[in-house]
Amino acid sequence: MSPAPCLLCFADELPLAHRMAKANGMALAEVERHVFPDGELRLRLPPQLPQHVAVLRSLHQPNTKLLELLLTARTARTLGARHLTLVAPYLAYMRQDTAFRPGEAISQTIVGAHLAQLFDAVLTLDPHLHRVATLAQAVPVRQALALTAAPLLGEWVFRQCPGALLLGPDEESAPWVEAAARAHELEHAVCSKKRQGDRQVQIALPQIDVKGRAVVLLDDIVSSGRTLAQAAQALRAAGARSVDVAVTHALMAGDALQVMASAGVGRVWSTDTVPHASNRVGIAGLLANALAAVTAD
Ligand code: R5P
Repeated sequence: MSPAPCLLCFADELPLAHRMAKANGMALAEVERHVFPDGELRLRLPPQLPQHVAVLRSLHQPNTKLLELLLTARTARTLGARHLTLVAPYLAYMRQDTAFRPGEAISQTIVGAHLAQLFDAVLTLDPHLHRVATLAQAVPVRQALALTAAPLLGEWVFRQCPGALLLGPDEESAPWVEAAARAHELEHAVCSKKRQGDRQVQIALPQIDVKGRAVVLLDDIVSSGRTLAQAAQALRAAGARSVDVAVTHALMAGDALQVMASAGVGRVWSTDTVPHASNRVGIAGLLANALAAVTAD
């Protein structure tokens, strides 16, 4: 019988790794990481690995981490791993899914193919898939599992703000908003969005009277915060009593939180796919259960 599967993690993700290992009883081991003075990396894995190995790496601030994954996956294969799963609570580079101008790299396809060369399975939460229907199209591995945190966020919103209107900032957010609204039949709708640049977006509200209402904006990602800030500003101008925010991935680049607060956002809640002060909804159990199913396959 092969030894039990092992979950490999990096020091900055130990808390989530511990919660996952506790939830599904996997052995946990840390990858030692050293940065040389010139910026190169030296990684060290446990010298003997079981056949089934999962690597936990959430891919916010992704560029160095993609190199870490290359070094980790190739080394794990030499140390006994036969089946490698990437657990990326946040999967980066999924938004650049077409060449918007001639000559642009289609990062989703390139990064997806790169990960598929390294791993047998990929497990993630709420990947931003817009022009492709399934995760397997973006990351062509044998097992590509995209879970969603939307029902957990919906439950959280319902407990904090039972009569809230749940609003997505753009048409792409509709599946998440519908999934979040379902269990408690929360009233929901989506806005429409035009993006002119990294920090320039225009939001048009749906035809719903929001005067005096508590509104919760729900989205997969907050990056610069401009999308939700513009939506909040429009809602406040239309008389919304409160505007709170619930998101899966709190990337929160730069002044995102301040910009949202200045636009009238009150509370901000996120899942812990990306560590942030707004984390309120834990996803360790969801990931651990799915991982147990992948490694048992
Ligand atoms: C894109 O459509 C996503 O769902 C988010 O709305 C977007 O990434 C948020 O970006 P930002 O916070 O920079 O406006």
